[in-house]
Amino acid sequence: MRYFDQDQNNSNLFSVPIRPNFRLRIIRFYFRLQQPNCSPTVFEKSISMFHPKALIPFSAVLMLCLITPLQAQTYDYDPDNGEEINELCSGCHGEFGQGGKDGEYPRIASQPLEFIANQLRLFRDRKRKNFAMVEYIDDRQLPESDIYDISRYLSEITLKTQLAPVDENAPDFDAYARLLESKMTMQIPKAEGDIERGEKIYNKECDSCHGKEGWGNHKNAGPMLAGQYTNYLWRQVKQLRTKQRIHDEDSPNDELLNEFSDQDLTDIFAYLSVMDD
Ligand code: HEC
Ligand code: HEC
Repeated sequence: MRYFDQDQNNSNLFSVPIRPNFRLRIIRFYFRLQQPNCSPTVFEKSISMFHPKALIPFSAVLMLCLITPLQAQTYDYDPDNGEEINELCSGCHGEFGQGGKDGEYPRIASQPLEFIANQLRLFRDRKRKNFAMVEYIDDRQLPESDIYDISRYLSEITLKTQLAPVDENAPDFDAYARLLESKMTMQIPKAEGDIERGEKIYNKECDSCHGKEGWGNHKNAGPMLAGQYTNYLWRQVKQLRTKQRIHDEDSPNDELLNEFSDQDLTDIFAYLSVMDD
């Protein structure tokens, strides 16, 4: 691949002396953030042929990529549509997206909007396996505007972390209301492991992408790990380690969890499991 900054003498605007890989990362990052519809690979291709003479096609691609996402981002949020779609999802993920069957179905409420939307696109494009969900996410059934509505609807559901104490024998005790309230509470049983050690590793290695105390990160579409079922997280670790799922799109060939032992992860998950206490 040929990068334009190998051509040190050209006077184009981009010839700042930074490493090509670094520049690619910035561009990829920018496009992932701003332009989910514009594939960064289009950019890599256009950059690889970059030369002052190739400025015209490069600008054309740039314009195209800037225009499409602007259209893509102008969905009017339709909460009623979000709620309606959620009726399909709730069969497995619970009516408040709280997940179920002890982690067989992950918690999807309160996750960053961008993370939910990304996963739905990956399932739809068969880049992430999910036999259970396939029939719900075909392009025809779940167009981009629906992906936006359901992702936003779910991301705006706030699940409590504590159930208020209540006297079940009081005359005004409402058992049904209490049941609903408990469904809207995320309580993850404490997982075995060294919480202090887990906290240290988490803060050093994971919090930049998964957010402070594990509550997710909107900027890079990093999912929350606190509040997620521990056995679900382990299932994903397996998929990430074997690259059935891509952990960090910026370095798809390096699976960062392979650098951590099972003991490290056990301790990290122990720390995350008490965040809701
Ligand atoms: C038939 C059951 C079923 C239905 C219906 C279903 N899902 Fe899922 N979903 C699953 C399962 C199972 C997984 C976990 C897959 C795995 O283990 O990798 C999952 C995973 C997900 C994830 C990834 C979460 C994460 O943290 O990795 C998202 C997001 C999601 N579903 C959203 C939805 C939405 C939105 C709908 C409704 C349009 C929906 N699901 C309908 C079964 C279902
Ligand atoms: C460079 C950013 C980055 C770092 C650092 C990072 N992650 Fe992630 N992680 C992500 C992103 C982004 C996803 C979602 C991937 C996707 O879209 O499928 C993810 C997904 C996960 C998942 C799957 C969760 C789910 O609900 O699907 C687990 C588990 C996970 N990471 C654990 C960790 C742990 C543990 C660490 C620290 C040792 C860590 N990650 C460090 C960015 C990162």
